[in-house]
Amino acid sequence: MHNIPVGVLGASGYAGQELCGLIASHPHCNLVFATANERRGQTLRVRTTHGAPRDITMIGPDDAPIGDVALVFSALPHGASVDWVGRVLDAGAKVVDLSSDLRPGRGGSTHPIPASVPAQVPYGLPELFRDGLAQARVVANPGCYPTSILVALAPFVRAGLVAPDALVSVAAASGVSGAGASPKLELLYAEVTENFRAYSAGNVHRHLPEMTDSIARLGGNFDLLFTPHLLPVDRGILSTITVPLREPLTDPLAVLHAAYDHEPFVEVSAALPALADVVHRNVVRVSAVNVQHVRSPTLLLFAAIDNLVKGAAGQAVQNANIMLGLDETAGLPQ
Ligand SMILES: NC(=O)c1ccc[n+]([C@@H]2O[C@H](COP(=O)([O-])OP(=O)(O)OC[C@H]3O[C@@H](n4cnc5c(N)ncnc54)[C@H](OP(=O)(O)O)[C@@H]3O)[C@@H](O)[C@H]2O)c1
Repeated sequence: MHNIPVGVLGASGYAGQELCGLIASHPHCNLVFATANERRGQTLRVRTTHGAPRDITMIGPDDAPIGDVALVFSALPHGASVDWVGRVLDAGAKVVDLSSDLRPGRGGSTHPIPASVPAQVPYGLPELFRDGLAQARVVANPGCYPTSILVALAPFVRAGLVAPDALVSVAAASGVSGAGASPKLELLYAEVTENFRAYSAGNVHRHLPEMTDSIARLGGNFDLLFTPHLLPVDRGILSTITVPLREPLTDPLAVLHAAYDHEPFVEVSAALPALADVVHRNVVRVSAVNVQHVRSPTLLLFAAIDNLVKGAAGQAVQNANIMLGLDETAGLPQ
């Protein structure tokens, strides 16, 4: 019990706080350090699924004993994370990197990659690409939007059901915690509450490349148009995906069931998924509906996740469980 030492870089951030809570409740991991940058020295109150909350004093990253742990979670901003991934690997520990620095397309980053980082870093979306994760010393944890979209879309792409050269269109809305904890004018309460707007319009969101790369790996040959929206809630993402089909499908839910009924963290639902179904849980809840009253066969897919759990910290713990040889579901809220 609680015998594998792990650490969290960026523990004062939204994803880092979520990670600390999951680790404090984990049956096999022991949180050895938690870092902050400007908030170093402050106390983080970590809620656990059992027992009283635990208070952790956050230290600066340079003071973190990265050589004393088996695995480090890096919940640092993109750009800052990749250097720490290199330092952790040099110190002999494994890393799950929650930033986009080592995902396909690197979130647009051109920051140099340290020499200790392997040329091929697995993309840690276990339900689609589980091979190679157990042997990896570093895993790139997917983005929150891509997790929801790729899990819903993948079974139809793999089965060749999407119309070739189609435009698959995604309208997705995220709660405000998706933007992190650093203050920004457009994220102030008065700007966000009772409001709803799109952003990164025109297919320019920096997480698009990790989706298009994954679609190509799955055998897809179509364009993806991704339009994110800001939803005035704390957490949660709902993605609605319009998919032109090669031919009509009689039972699209059956395609999802066949792909995911054995997966503990994907729920296939006939009812349309809602954020209330998934918040604080490490699940993607997906559904599919045939579109009526259009000339070409068209499918609507829906996916709901908690951006901080299956979209970030929960998926990171899932990847760490695989990398540490533990039960993949250990310590994760289902
Ligand atoms: N939020 C999400 O829903 C979500 C989902 C998926 C992936 N991610 C990824 O997870 C990572 C963390 O996201 P977040 O939303 O938790 O961000 P955040 O709330 O802004 O937290 C960032 C953390 O990094 C620390 N930090 C900032 N600059 C640093 C530096 N130069 N050196 C060392 N530490 C530094 C911060 O410390 P201080 O607080 O002391 O400044 C804080 O602990 C990001 O790469 C993000 O893209 C986030």
